[in-house]
Amino acid sequence: MIRNTKRQLIVANWKCNPSALREAERLFAVIKKAAPRYKNVDVIICPPSVFLFSFSIKGKSSFKLGIQDIFWEDTGAYTGAIGPRMARSVGASYAIIGHSERRERLGETNEMTQAKMEAALAAGLRAILCVGEKSREGDAAEYAAFVKEEVQIGLRGITKQALKNVIIAYEPIWAVGSDEADVPERTLEMALYIRKIIADMYDRSIAQAFPVLYGGSANAANARAFLRDGGVDGLLLGRASLNAKEFGKIVEIASEL
Ligand code: PGA
Repeated sequence: MIRNTKRQLIVANWKCNPSALREAERLFAVIKKAAPRYKNVDVIICPPSVFLFSFSIKGKSSFKLGIQDIFWEDTGAYTGAIGPRMARSVGASYAIIGHSERRERLGETNEMTQAKMEAALAAGLRAILCVGEKSREGDAAEYAAFVKEEVQIGLRGITKQALKNVIIAYEPIWAVGSDEADVPERTLEMALYIRKIIADMYDRSIAQAFPVLYGGSANAANARAFLRDGGVDGLLLGRASLNAKEFGKIVEIASEL
Protein backbone atom coordinates (compact mmCIF):
# COMPACT_ATOMS: atom_id res chain seq x y z
CA MET A 1 0.00 0.00 0.00
CA ILE A 2 1.83 3.10 -1.13
CA ARG A 3 0.70 6.28 0.47
CA ASN A 4 1.41 9.77 -0.82
CA THR A 5 0.99 11.62 2.41
CA LYS A 6 2.48 10.32 5.59
CA ARG A 7 -0.56 8.97 7.40
CA GLN A 8 -0.08 6.76 10.38
CA LEU A 9 -1.89 3.46 10.51
CA ILE A 10 -3.08 2.21 13.88
CA VAL A 11 -4.39 -1.34 13.85
CA ALA A 12 -6.35 -2.77 16.77
CA ASN A 13 -6.04 -6.54 16.98
CA TRP A 14 -8.57 -7.58 19.60
CA LYS A 15 -7.61 -11.25 19.21
CA CYS A 16 -10.12 -13.53 21.00
CA ASN A 17 -11.62 -10.67 23.06
CA PRO A 18 -14.02 -9.63 24.49
CA SER A 19 -16.18 -12.62 25.29
CA ALA A 20 -19.55 -11.24 24.15
CA LEU A 21 -21.00 -8.93 21.50
CA ARG A 22 -22.44 -6.53 24.04
CA GLU A 23 -18.99 -5.82 25.50
CA ALA A 24 -17.44 -5.54 22.07
CA GLU A 25 -20.09 -3.00 21.07
CA ARG A 26 -19.41 -1.00 24.18
CA LEU A 27 -15.68 -0.90 23.49
CA PHE A 28 -16.28 0.04 19.88
CA ALA A 29 -18.69 2.83 20.87
CA VAL A 30 -16.20 4.38 23.30
CA ILE A 31 -13.38 4.22 20.76
CA LYS A 32 -15.63 5.71 18.09
CA LYS A 33 -16.62 8.65 20.22
CA ALA A 34 -13.08 10.00 20.16
CA ALA A 35 -12.71 9.57 16.42
CA PRO A 36 -13.50 13.14 15.29
CA ARG A 37 -10.37 14.33 17.11
CA TYR A 38 -8.04 12.18 15.07
CA LYS A 39 -6.26 13.64 12.07
CA ASN A 40 -3.85 11.99 9.62
CA VAL A 41 -4.44 8.59 11.11
CA ASP A 42 -6.16 5.55 9.69
CA VAL A 43 -7.64 3.43 12.43
CA ILE A 44 -8.39 -0.20 11.65
CA ILE A 45 -10.40 -2.19 14.16
CA CYS A 46 -10.05 -5.97 13.92
CA PRO A 47 -12.63 -7.54 16.21
CA PRO A 48 -13.33 -11.28 16.38
CA SER A 49 -14.86 -12.08 13.01
CA VAL A 50 -18.28 -13.03 14.42
CA PHE A 51 -18.69 -9.38 15.48
CA LEU A 52 -17.69 -7.85 12.15
CA PHE A 53 -21.14 -7.59 10.64
CA SER A 54 -22.57 -5.81 13.63
CA PHE A 55 -19.72 -3.27 13.51
CA SER A 56 -19.96 -2.60 9.82
CA ILE A 57 -23.53 -1.45 10.27
CA LYS A 58 -22.67 0.79 13.19
CA GLY A 59 -19.27 1.99 12.15
CA LYS A 60 -19.58 3.11 8.57
CA SER A 61 -18.04 6.54 8.68
CA SER A 62 -15.08 6.70 10.99
CA PHE A 63 -12.96 3.56 11.09
CA LYS A 64 -12.06 0.78 8.76
CA LEU A 65 -12.60 -2.80 9.79
CA GLY A 66 -10.27 -5.73 9.45
CA ILE A 67 -10.39 -9.46 9.99
CA GLN A 68 -7.72 -11.16 12.11
CA ASP A 69 -7.15 -14.08 9.77
CA ILE A 70 -8.58 -15.30 6.51
CA PHE A 71 -8.79 -18.59 4.66
CA TRP A 72 -7.12 -19.07 1.27
CA GLU A 73 -10.29 -20.16 -0.56
CA ASP A 74 -13.42 -18.08 -0.99
CA THR A 75 -15.85 -20.98 -0.62
CA GLY A 76 -15.89 -24.75 -0.29
CA ALA A 77 -15.93 -27.67 2.12
CA TYR A 78 -13.67 -26.14 4.79
CA THR A 79 -15.43 -26.36 8.12
CA GLY A 80 -14.95 -23.29 10.24
CA ALA A 81 -13.10 -21.29 7.60
CA ILE A 82 -13.95 -17.74 6.55
CA GLY A 83 -13.27 -16.79 2.94
CA PRO A 84 -11.89 -13.35 2.01
CA ARG A 85 -14.93 -12.42 -0.05
CA MET A 86 -17.19 -13.21 2.90
CA ALA A 87 -15.13 -10.93 5.08
CA ARG A 88 -15.36 -8.15 2.53
CA SER A 89 -19.09 -8.59 2.18
CA VAL A 90 -19.60 -7.89 5.89
CA GLY A 91 -17.46 -4.78 5.95
CA ALA A 92 -13.83 -5.84 6.35
CA SER A 93 -11.36 -3.95 4.21
CA TYR A 94 -8.16 -5.25 5.82
CA ALA A 95 -6.94 -8.72 6.80
CA ILE A 96 -4.19 -9.56 9.25
CA ILE A 97 -2.28 -12.49 7.82
CA GLY A 98 0.39 -14.74 9.33
CA HIS A 99 0.14 -13.44 12.89
CA SER A 100 2.75 -15.14 15.09
CA GLU A 101 0.06 -16.63 17.31
CA ARG A 102 -1.29 -18.49 14.30
CA ARG A 103 2.16 -19.49 13.14
CA GLU A 104 3.36 -20.60 16.57
CA ARG A 105 0.24 -22.11 18.09
CA LEU A 106 -1.79 -23.23 15.10
CA GLY A 107 0.98 -24.44 12.83
CA GLU A 108 0.56 -21.86 10.10
CA THR A 109 3.45 -22.07 7.63
CA ASN A 110 4.92 -19.48 5.29
CA GLU A 111 3.24 -21.32 2.42
CA MET A 112 -0.19 -21.10 4.07
CA THR A 113 0.41 -17.43 4.75
CA GLN A 114 1.35 -16.88 1.12
CA ALA A 115 -1.86 -18.54 -0.07
CA LYS A 116 -3.86 -16.33 2.27
CA MET A 117 -2.10 -13.21 0.99
CA GLU A 118 -3.00 -14.03 -2.61
CA ALA A 119 -6.60 -14.82 -1.76
CA ALA A 120 -7.07 -11.72 0.38
CA LEU A 121 -5.65 -9.42 -2.28
CA ALA A 122 -7.69 -11.06 -5.03
CA ALA A 123 -10.82 -10.39 -2.98
CA GLY A 124 -9.92 -6.70 -2.69
CA LEU A 125 -8.77 -6.73 0.91
CA ARG A 126 -5.66 -4.91 2.09
CA ALA A 127 -3.32 -7.45 3.57
CA ILE A 128 -1.25 -6.91 6.70
CA LEU A 129 1.50 -9.54 6.61
CA CYS A 130 2.99 -10.19 10.05
CA VAL A 131 6.64 -11.19 10.30
CA GLY A 132 9.16 -11.34 13.12
CA GLU A 133 11.90 -13.42 14.64
CA LYS A 134 11.43 -15.81 17.57
CA SER A 135 14.43 -14.59 19.49
CA ARG A 136 17.31 -12.18 19.14
CA GLU A 137 19.74 -14.42 20.90
CA GLY A 138 22.55 -15.88 18.89
CA ASP A 139 23.59 -15.01 15.40
CA ALA A 140 21.96 -11.86 13.99
CA ALA A 141 22.28 -13.23 10.46
CA GLU A 142 20.16 -16.20 11.48
CA TYR A 143 17.17 -14.28 12.74
CA ALA A 144 17.46 -11.82 9.88
CA ALA A 145 17.26 -14.80 7.49
CA PHE A 146 14.16 -16.04 9.31
CA VAL A 147 12.38 -12.71 8.75
CA LYS A 148 13.62 -12.53 5.17
CA GLU A 149 12.11 -15.90 4.41
CA GLU A 150 8.77 -14.87 5.93
CA VAL A 151 8.71 -11.79 3.71
CA GLN A 152 9.95 -13.52 0.55
CA ILE A 153 7.58 -16.48 0.76
CA GLY A 154 4.67 -14.39 2.06
CA LEU A 155 4.94 -12.10 -0.98
CA ARG A 156 5.69 -14.79 -3.54
CA GLY A 157 3.53 -14.28 -6.60
CA ILE A 158 2.29 -10.86 -5.47
CA THR A 159 2.57 -8.42 -8.37
CA LYS A 160 3.80 -4.84 -8.12
CA GLN A 161 0.24 -3.72 -8.65
CA ALA A 162 -1.12 -5.92 -5.85
CA LEU A 163 1.69 -4.86 -3.52
CA LYS A 164 0.01 -1.45 -3.27
CA ASN A 165 -2.46 -3.14 -0.95
CA VAL A 166 0.13 -4.82 1.25
CA ILE A 167 1.47 -3.65 4.59
CA ILE A 168 4.05 -5.51 6.64
CA ALA A 169 3.81 -5.58 10.41
CA TYR A 170 7.15 -6.28 12.02
CA GLU A 171 6.29 -8.07 15.24
CA PRO A 172 9.18 -9.79 17.00
CA ILE A 173 7.59 -12.86 18.54
CA TRP A 174 9.32 -12.39 21.89
CA ALA A 175 7.70 -8.96 22.20
CA VAL A 176 4.14 -10.02 21.34
CA GLY A 177 2.00 -10.47 24.44
CA SER A 178 5.04 -10.07 26.68
CA ASP A 179 6.10 -7.09 28.76
CA GLU A 180 9.21 -6.48 26.75
CA ALA A 181 8.76 -4.25 23.71
CA ASP A 182 11.52 -3.80 21.16
CA VAL A 183 13.58 -0.61 21.24
CA PRO A 184 12.92 1.89 18.43
CA GLU A 185 16.55 1.85 17.25
CA ARG A 186 16.33 -1.89 16.56
CA THR A 187 12.89 -1.55 15.01
CA LEU A 188 14.35 1.07 12.70
CA GLU A 189 17.02 -1.40 11.58
CA MET A 190 14.43 -4.08 10.97
CA ALA A 191 12.11 -1.69 9.11
CA LEU A 192 15.03 -0.73 6.85
CA TYR A 193 15.91 -4.37 6.41
CA ILE A 194 12.34 -5.24 5.40
CA ARG A 195 12.31 -2.36 2.91
CA LYS A 196 15.63 -3.63 1.52
CA ILE A 197 14.03 -7.06 0.94
CA ILE A 198 11.15 -5.31 -0.85
CA ALA A 199 13.65 -3.32 -2.93
CA ASP A 200 15.38 -6.53 -3.99
CA MET A 201 12.07 -8.20 -4.84
CA TYR A 202 10.45 -5.19 -6.54
CA ASP A 203 12.26 -1.87 -6.79
CA ARG A 204 13.72 0.92 -4.69
CA SER A 205 10.98 3.50 -5.14
CA ILE A 206 8.31 0.99 -4.11
CA ALA A 207 10.41 0.00 -1.09
CA GLN A 208 10.90 3.57 0.09
CA ALA A 209 7.17 4.23 0.29
CA PHE A 210 6.31 0.76 1.55
CA PRO A 211 4.39 0.82 4.85
CA VAL A 212 5.86 -1.09 7.77
CA LEU A 213 4.19 -1.25 11.18
CA TYR A 214 5.59 -2.22 14.55
CA GLY A 215 3.78 -4.57 16.93
CA GLY A 216 4.68 -6.24 20.22
CA SER A 217 3.88 -4.71 23.62
CA ALA A 218 3.32 -1.29 22.07
CA ASN A 219 1.40 0.98 24.39
CA ALA A 220 0.68 4.60 25.24
CA ALA A 221 4.04 4.96 26.97
CA ASN A 222 6.21 3.82 24.07
CA ALA A 223 4.05 4.65 21.02
CA ARG A 224 5.58 8.06 20.41
CA ALA A 225 9.13 6.67 20.42
CA PHE A 226 8.27 3.92 17.94
CA LEU A 227 6.40 6.25 15.62
CA ARG A 228 9.07 8.93 15.76
CA ASP A 229 12.28 6.89 15.84
CA GLY A 230 11.33 3.39 14.78
CA GLY A 231 11.12 4.02 11.04
CA VAL A 232 7.56 2.70 10.95
CA ASP A 233 4.27 4.04 9.59
CA GLY A 234 2.10 2.86 12.42
CA LEU A 235 1.43 0.28 15.09
CA LEU A 236 -0.31 -3.05 15.45
CA LEU A 237 -1.73 -3.18 18.94
CA GLY A 238 -2.96 -6.16 20.92
CA ARG A 239 -3.61 -5.53 24.60
CA ALA A 240 -3.49 -1.75 24.33
CA SER A 241 -6.35 -1.84 21.84
CA LEU A 242 -8.69 -3.40 24.39
CA ASN A 243 -8.47 -0.43 26.69
CA ALA A 244 -10.43 2.39 25.05
CA LYS A 245 -8.64 5.10 27.00
CA GLU A 246 -5.16 3.85 26.25
CA PHE A 247 -6.05 3.14 22.64
CA GLY A 248 -7.43 6.68 22.26
CA LYS A 249 -4.22 8.08 23.68
CA ILE A 250 -2.13 6.14 21.17
CA VAL A 251 -4.24 7.29 18.24
CA GLU A 252 -3.92 10.85 19.51
CA ILE A 253 -0.12 10.51 19.71
CA ALA A 254 -0.09 9.21 16.14
CA SER A 255 -2.24 12.07 14.94
CA GLU A 256 0.12 14.64 16.46
CA LEU A 257 3.14 13.37 14.54
P1 PGA B 1 0.45 -7.04 22.14
O1 PGA B 1 0.05 -7.85 20.82
O2 PGA B 1 0.34 -5.58 21.79
O3 PGA B 1 -0.53 -7.48 23.18
O4 PGA B 1 1.86 -7.44 22.48
C1 PGA B 1 0.48 -7.37 19.59
C2 PGA B 1 -0.02 -8.25 18.47
O5 PGA B 1 -0.17 -9.45 18.67
O6 PGA B 1 -0.29 -7.79 17.38
